[in-house]
Amino acid sequence: MNMKNTIKVWDLPLRLFHWILVAAFVIAYITEDDFLTLHVWAGYVIAGLIAFRLIWGFIGGKYARFSNFLCRPSLSIEYLKNSLFNKSKRYIGHNPAGSVMIMFLLLCLLITTVTGFAVYGAEENAGPLASIGMQYEELWEEMHEIFANTTLLLVILHILGVALESFTHKENLVKAMITGNKRNQIDSSEQS
Ligand code: HEM
Repeated sequence: MNMKNTIKVWDLPLRLFHWILVAAFVIAYITEDDFLTLHVWAGYVIAGLIAFRLIWGFIGGKYARFSNFLCRPSLSIEYLKNSLFNKSKRYIGHNPAGSVMIMFLLLCLLITTVTGFAVYGAEENAGPLASIGMQYEELWEEMHEIFANTTLLLVILHILGVALESFTHKENLVKAMITGNKRNQIDSSEQS
């Protein structure tokens, strides 16, 4: 049940998706080759989460749907500029800069997982790409590392973006991603 001045923005499946993704990414990143079984399992979890998110983008709650937050790139750039000058509008759902970040994060995570499965297939002859063969092993390995590190860079920018938006709009967005609730206050400078 929503409290009087709050609105349920992030549904439970989306919140579970987010925090399981955070845990799986951290585990995958720190285990690398050292704990291969755990590393590969974290990869399976991430692959499953990406598949879930793509489906949830069409059938999930209002603010989880791609139609609610995907927008023109020019709008994202304008939003980013305004953010730097502390002038950005408040969005109830994802803002236009966040929406681009989400798509980049999902894309990089997807490439990282697929190339990870390719390395696993080439080296261990196991996993969903077990039959891939040894031929391009080094290429898969190189790509896997590059995209894992690109994802990490995006995650850092993502966290900085969340902090900046929380500061600008005096709203704890991390708490919102835990409880699902945000302040239900619309004024002339706000967008739904
Ligand atoms: C402790 C670190 C993190 C914090 C505090 C955090 C916080 C948040 C918050 C507050 C949002 C909602 C943004 C909004 O209000 O529009 C969000 C969304 C998102 N975050 Fe994070 N995040 C963290 C780490 C990560 C990591 C490691 C990943 C990916 C590997 C990630 C991927 C995403 C994605 C994909 C969304 C979009 C949610 C959706 O699917 O609609 N986050 N995050």
